[in-house]
This record gives sequence, C-alpha cells and structure tokens, in this order.
Amino acid sequence: MGKDVIIACDFPSADETLRFLDRFTGKKPFVKIGMELFYAEGPSIVRRLKERGHRVFLDLKLHDIPNTVKKAMAVLSALDVDIVNCHASGTVRMMEAAREGLTRPDGSRPLLIAVTQLTSTDQEAMENDLLIKSPIQEVVAHYASNAKKAGLDGVVCSPLEAAKVHALCGADFLTVTPGIRFADGDVGDQKRVMTPAAAREIGSDYIVVGRPVTAAADPVEAYERCVREFVDR
Ligand code: C5P
Repeated sequence: MGKDVIIACDFPSADETLRFLDRFTGKKPFVKIGMELFYAEGPSIVRRLKERGHRVFLDLKLHDIPNTVKKAMAVLSALDVDIVNCHASGTVRMMEAAREGLTRPDGSRPLLIAVTQLTSTDQEAMENDLLIKSPIQEVVAHYASNAKKAGLDGVVCSPLEAAKVHALCGADFLTVTPGIRFADGDVGDQKRVMTPAAAREIGSDYIVVGRPVTAAADPVEAYERCVREFVDR
C-alpha cells in the first residue's frame, strides 16, 4: 500500500480551489473534497479535479438509513472518485448497504472507508454528549472491526489509533488519518493530533492535511514538508 498525503481542500468555491491547486506546478496532489466544497459546487468540482489528473477522496461522511445510503452511493460511484466514506456509527447494515450501492455493474468500485470517531471528538464529549462510556480507543477499534465485517476497505481515524486498527483488522485495512499538525504548528479545533513523521512511524496509510497546508504562507512548501516527513523516509 503506497503511502500518500491527501490535501483537504476545504474551500468555499471551485475558483478558490483551482487557484490554490494552480500553485502546485507540475504536481497533482491527492485531494479531499468535503461537504463545504461539494455542497457549493456539486459533482462538477469532482469531474474538474479528475480531468486535471488529481486523485479524489470525496469526504461526504454518509449517515442515514441503509436504503438511502445505498442509493446515494450508487450516484457517487458514477463520479469516478478514488475514495468515499460513511459513518461507522450508522451500523454494520448501513455500511453493507453503502458497499452494495457503490459497486458498479462490472464489480468495480471506489475504495470505501468508514469514519470511526471524528478527531475533534474526545473522551469527555463522547461520554457527555453521546452517552458512550467506553474508552475512545475501544470505541474506535470496535467501529473499525464493524467496518471490516461490512466489507469496507478501511477507516478514517486518528493516527493515534492507526496501529491498533491494523493489529485488529490487518495490515491491508487502510487507515486514513486526519488530525495532522506540524510539531511547531497550531492545533485549531482538532483534539487528537500527530505530526506527519509520527503518523508514518505508527503506520498510517494516508494522512489528510487541511489547514497546515491550505493556511500556510507557502502551501507548496508545507505540502512538500508533509511528503518529506510522511512518504520519503
Ligand atoms: O484543517 P485540518 O487539517 O484540521 O483538516 C482535517 C480534515 O479532515 C477536515 O477536512 C475534516 O473534515 C477531516 N476529518 C477530520 N476528522 C475525521 C474525519 C475527517 O478532521 N475523523
């Protein structure tokens, strides 16, 4: 499994996204399109980025009744994205429905991963707001094994949990990890964070990096620093 850095393109418009990516002369970073950009621009932004040669992780975090998720995934599978996701908290049945919906008539499909617990959620919020009393690591591990049981390809989790997920679900089960910060950078609203180098050590397959790259004075240099720390070691 090739390690890679995925840039979270959390921008409000296609114009801003394309202007940002234009700075990466000669490079085609793997990009993540989240709710903000997709809700603003719709499927056309996915097609434009694919036409430009980017690999795309469409991060819409589906969570609904199984039938609705299955039908929505069928629509997304026609977009030729590389990775899509849903919430593991939607249950094993919902994840199975997601996989069924995503699978094209020829049997191919984008990679499908599940969000375990958002990296902005900590133990206290999980206990008080969600009434989930188990330790967060156990919850993440349980959600990851549910995702594996449903036939998914991996999970989105904190890099702090990547080693445990691999131990439980196998080395081939993907760990896609946001909550990445440089050692000398701002944490922002993320609670469970790690540097690109530490994420590499612990076995993350892909790191998702947003503001440390998008808000950097020199985004290309910040991206290259991520690649140096995470990929080229
Ligand atoms: O700016 P920052 O590096 O915090 O961006 C992280 C990105 O990863 C955001 O787009 C956020 O929606 C996403 N994400 C996350 N935690 C998850 C799943 C996705 O932070 N568990």
